[in-house]
Amino acid sequence: MLIMSSDVRKGLEGVVVDETAIAKTDIHSLTYRGYPVQELAQHCSFEEVAYLIWNGDLPTTEQLEEFTQEEIEQREISEQLISVIRSFPHTAHPMDTLRTAVSHLGMEALDVMDNSPTANRNKAVRLLAQIPTIAAADYRYRQGLERIPPSAELSFSANFFNMCFGQIPSQEVLDCFEVAFILYAEHGFNSSTFTARIVASTLSDMYSAVTAAIGSLKGSLHGGANAGVMRMLLEIGKPELAQSWVDSALAAKRKIMGFGHRVYKRGDPRVPIMHAAHNEMARSSGDHQWLDIQEIVTRTMWERRRMYPNIDYEAGPTYYLMGFDIAIFGPLFVMSRMVGLTAHFTEQMAFNRMIRPISSYVGPTQRALTDRTKSRALNVL
Ligand code: COA
Repeated sequence: MLIMSSDVRKGLEGVVVDETAIAKTDIHSLTYRGYPVQELAQHCSFEEVAYLIWNGDLPTTEQLEEFTQEEIEQREISEQLISVIRSFPHTAHPMDTLRTAVSHLGMEALDVMDNSPTANRNKAVRLLAQIPTIAAADYRYRQGLERIPPSAELSFSANFFNMCFGQIPSQEVLDCFEVAFILYAEHGFNSSTFTARIVASTLSDMYSAVTAAIGSLKGSLHGGANAGVMRMLLEIGKPELAQSWVDSALAAKRKIMGFGHRVYKRGDPRVPIMHAAHNEMARSSGDHQWLDIQEIVTRTMWERRRMYPNIDYEAGPTYYLMGFDIAIFGPLFVMSRMVGLTAHFTEQMAFNRMIRPISSYVGPTQRALTDRTKSRALNVL
């Protein structure tokens, strides 16, 4: 087969690798199972959206009740895993601790290699329920605090805040958190989801796929961007320094975190609603400084590069205003995206063909091994 360099689609840009019925990403739109993500974020809870993504339709009241109960019952993690998390170096990257903890969950799971739809659905619920418990425990151990066990009385979001801070914030804060989680829940064949699908395609297991996906999400061009945005805002510090900061960064050929997107060439459809959540957090906390800096960064990026911000640009400061430190931004991304990752794992398993692309070889042309005198005594036919 003759493969030319001109056949290469670097970064797989524009390559259609498979079909999916989960989400549709277009130049300026995103739907989950046919529903615009903005409408879901306005009207639904995170649990309802998780049910929709996994099952194809929104739940009835009874189905939601049953699903919520199932998630609540799976929240606690083993004593052994708790002591493993406690033993992690406090200097470790939070995505590394989460990746290792998820790998540990896989070692504990007796159904790890059962890839039946029922077993995979059970594993998905466990991952959705237990990853927040892991992330919150790690968050507190890092600060020298004891962990707070999950509560069976609280919603997914309220329970997470309680496990991190020992208190539940106002309904406004919980609403903004759910908006972010719904907007992040699923995103088609993005890098980490595709990573998970590649692992699924070899008939491996869900924990391995999620572990690999966390490794992919850690990167600053993907899940690490929300943390990168917040670091940038802290570095800029004041609105009056924003324009010159952007100009210097662009002159140094640095990428500005939170700008650009492979698919959304006319702007990220999740941004207006995430911006509204950021506004709400600024209003309720009385802290407008990040909005003020961002106004100038956004204008400068448009004037210099005609680039639009993406969801991470708004989510970073929104999480910060909720009281989270930057270390937990990556795990927050994992917690929300667990819905989409596990849905894609299941879809890949249902219509599997092993993913194995080819490459255009640019190394030395074929040559002979002429300088060897010794040879193995193999009878090659
Ligand atoms: N800041 C400055 N320039 C940027 C940029 C950014 N955030 N994003 C893209 N560009 C520039 C590139 O330097 C490149 O310029 P060139 O053609 O002069 O070399 C051009 O725009 C195309 O960028 P490219 O990296 O090839 O686009 P992509 O589709 O491969 O990448 C991203 C998409 C998201 C990886 C990229 O926009 C990026 O790195 N953004 C910052 C990280 C981020 O916010 N990630 C979260 C995504 S949701």
